[in-house]
Amino acid sequence: MDPATRELYEAAAAARRRAYSPYSGYAVGAAIRTPSGRVFTGCNVENASYPEGTCAEAGAIAAMVDGGERSIAAVVTVTGGATPGTPCGGCRQRIREFGDDSTTITATTIEGAETTMSLSELLPASFGPEMLSPGSAAAG
Ligand code: THU
Repeated sequence: MDPATRELYEAAAAARRRAYSPYSGYAVGAAIRTPSGRVFTGCNVENASYPEGTCAEAGAIAAMVDGGERSIAAVVTVTGGATPGTPCGGCRQRIREFGDDSTTITATTIEGAETTMSLSELLPASFGPEMLSPGSAAAG
C-alpha cells in the first residue's frame, strides 16, 4: 500500500472504530481524499428502524460537502473479515456524483486484504450529473 493510501486507510480505520453497528455487527469506516488533498471520514450509523441506517461512505461524503469540497480523488473503505466489503450499490452512485474517471476506490480489511478499483469498474455505464445538463440526451 502506498503512503497516500496508507494515510487514508488509517483515517478510515479510526472512523470504523467509531461505527455504530449494533444490529449488523458489521462496522465500516470510509475516508475520502479530495484533489486538494483534504481528507474526510465517515462510519456506518445504524438505527433500530433498520432502513434508516446510513453507510460509512455516505457519512464521509456528507462531511466532504459540508467541508466545502465537491470532488473525490480517492476513497478507502475498511471492514472486518477476510474479504473487503466493496461499496454497496447506493454508495457507488454517491461516489459517482463527485468522482470521475481518475477516482480510485480501495476496499480493505483490518486483516490486511485490499483491492483497488476505478469508479468505472465499480459502476460501469453509470448515470451522472452531466446527464441532466441541458442538451444531453437524457435531459431531452
Ligand atoms: N455498509 C456500509 O457502511 N457501506 C457499504 O458500502 C456497505 C454496507 C454498512 C451498512 C450497514 O450498517 C452494515 O454495513 C451492514 O450492511
